[in-house]
Amino acid sequence: MNLWQDFLTNDQRLIHKWKHYFPVYEDHFSRFVNRDVVLLEIGCGKGGSLQMWKRFFGPHARIIGIDINPECAAYAEDQIDIRIGSQDDVKFLDSVLDEFGTPDIILDDGSHVMSHIQASFAALYPRLERNGVYLVEDLHTAYWDEFEGGLRRQGSFIETCKDLIDELNADHARDAMKPTEFTRSTHSMHFYDSIVVFEKGRHTVKQAPQIGHDY
Ligand SMILES: C[S@@+](CC[C@H](N)C(=O)[O-])C[C@H]1O[C@@H](n2cnc3c(N)ncnc32)[C@H](O)[C@@H]1O
Repeated sequence: MNLWQDFLTNDQRLIHKWKHYFPVYEDHFSRFVNRDVVLLEIGCGKGGSLQMWKRFFGPHARIIGIDINPECAAYAEDQIDIRIGSQDDVKFLDSVLDEFGTPDIILDDGSHVMSHIQASFAALYPRLERNGVYLVEDLHTAYWDEFEGGLRRQGSFIETCKDLIDELNADHARDAMKPTEFTRSTHSMHFYDSIVVFEKGRHTVKQAPQIGHDY
């Protein structure tokens, strides 16, 4: 199924996504189609994206939406569960994961406030499946002060990501930096307009090539 076509022809609940996000979703989520996948979306809006994920991932998927707005509870249906709470409430997030198990995909489309994104990432990334995907969208807010953002402002999630690039490469930093749990559990980071994606994966200590040029 083509996600973009599904979006264009959607006549069910309203979906609130920017056009250029769709190729990113397809690139990072397609390997989970028709699998027993657990997707946690922060921010339910009008409920349309939850239904879109259900159509995209197929009959074995379990979609969990969390939102601060109690009215979102009405979006629950077969394969879709909703829990009400704030994305910066670590106890709430833990209780959701305790109830539904380890997510394979986490998509942050919640308040887009920097401290909220940070709190969710700190609580949820360590509990994401070891080959899972964590996607934060609408990160244009990282440059807007009403969302606690600003260019190179400390605390913006984009600034955190710049530091995480160093952690990803910590094996090569000699004595300047020790590998962290993030180093050990992260395969790659991907940057797009307004989106950052983290792909988890097995960590191997990288070695210089044994054949050919010596770097
Ligand atoms: C942009 S909408 C989500 C749109 C939806 N994912 C879609 O694509 O159709 C953002 C949602 O985040 C919710 N939200 C705002 N602050 C929140 C918080 N602190 N914790 C959880 N959800 C929050 C809002 O109630 C709103 O439903």
